[in-house]
Amino acid sequence: MNSENGAALSANACGETLDEDRRGFVKKLTGTALALGLAGAAVECARFLKPNVLYEPSRVFKVGALENYPFGSRTVIEGRGVEVVRERDGMHAVSLVCTHLGCLLKPVDNDPGVGYACPCHGSTFTLKGEVLGGPAPKDLPWYEMYLDQTGALVVDASKVNHKRSKLPV
Ligand code: FES
Repeated sequence: MNSENGAALSANACGETLDEDRRGFVKKLTGTALALGLAGAAVECARFLKPNVLYEPSRVFKVGALENYPFGSRTVIEGRGVEVVRERDGMHAVSLVCTHLGCLLKPVDNDPGVGYACPCHGSTFTLKGEVLGGPAPKDLPWYEMYLDQTGALVVDASKVNHKRSKLPV
């Protein structure tokens, strides 16, 4: 073997080694890209198993036993935007959400003519929820109420009591 052949053989062997290195690199790159793609697809599939929804509290809720509501009582149900009122002729649940822009109303108990006042823009309502003044365009809705099988009072805020009929208790 002369030195020219030796150099060509050496260059050829070096080229093959480079080709093998390149192939190995491309294989690793392809494998990594495939693994990342599969992992991404698996994450997206897993996301479909959990619904992408916003959970809100139920609009139908128990407010306790009847004996917790003496005659003449007004009870704000915390976190529900509702007041339960018990009078001699029955009970009703009135919304405490202002019909103007949705602020939470404050019950008024030091003025017999006013039942609720809005801290945002000053609307006022009677104890029955009728608009007295301010920018509120509509009366406050009453919600359906009933006693369940266990004797607990239930407010169904998903149903407006259009007749404004009191629960006779
Ligand atoms: S939100 Fe109540 S008066 Fe405007």
